[in-house]
Amino acid sequence: MHFTVAIDGPAAAGKGTISRAIAREFGFAHLDTGLLYRAVGLKGGDPVQAARSLSSDDLARDGLRSLAAGEAASRVAVLSDVRAALVDFQRDFARRDGGAVLDGRDIGTVICPEAEVKLFVTASAETRARRRWLEAGEDGSYKEVLAQVRARDARDSSRADAPLLAAPDAITLDTTEWTVTYAIEAAKEIIAARLATCA
Ligand code: DC
Repeated sequence: MHFTVAIDGPAAAGKGTISRAIAREFGFAHLDTGLLYRAVGLKGGDPVQAARSLSSDDLARDGLRSLAAGEAASRVAVLSDVRAALVDFQRDFARRDGGAVLDGRDIGTVICPEAEVKLFVTASAETRARRRWLEAGEDGSYKEVLAQVRARDARDSSRADAPLLAAPDAITLDTTEWTVTYAIEAAKEIIAARLATCA
């Protein structure tokens, strides 16, 4: 059975938390596609070569989830040849047997426009910055994190190739005022309803 859940949205909107919960609930495989770009950004050297030669070791290295890795990822993600090198892996993952959930920026628009469910998970920049800052153990200043979130939004949304964008048929979940539990339940309901139509 092919069943793809595409979850897109800006940094720290809750995509990862929702994706993991959905994967657990429905027994789907999960791919956090941001990790691919983070691994390329951290590898150094020529980013296109780094993307073409990405290994499972690169995806398991320390520091992939740091703020610095997110910044590096956002910079290499503007390069079309880097994006092209990562497409096949993501598409194969999306259409694997048993169902898959992928979270990123362009899953519903570019990687898997035929996904059975497309969610666009978002929240205000202030809320997302606060979450990132709390996650980082209140390390550094909240204002700095907010500036980084805004800069990343601008870069991810304005790039020419596969910018951050909701697919026209995506369902938007704005988690600004939501608890994690509520957001997860909302996503589960949408997916369960779609799965029932495929049975
Ligand atoms: O979701 P994240 O914070 O791990 O993503 C890090 C960066 O990688 C993000 O700023 C943009 C890029 N990215 C992308 O361009 N396309 C994706 N599908 C996932 C991430």
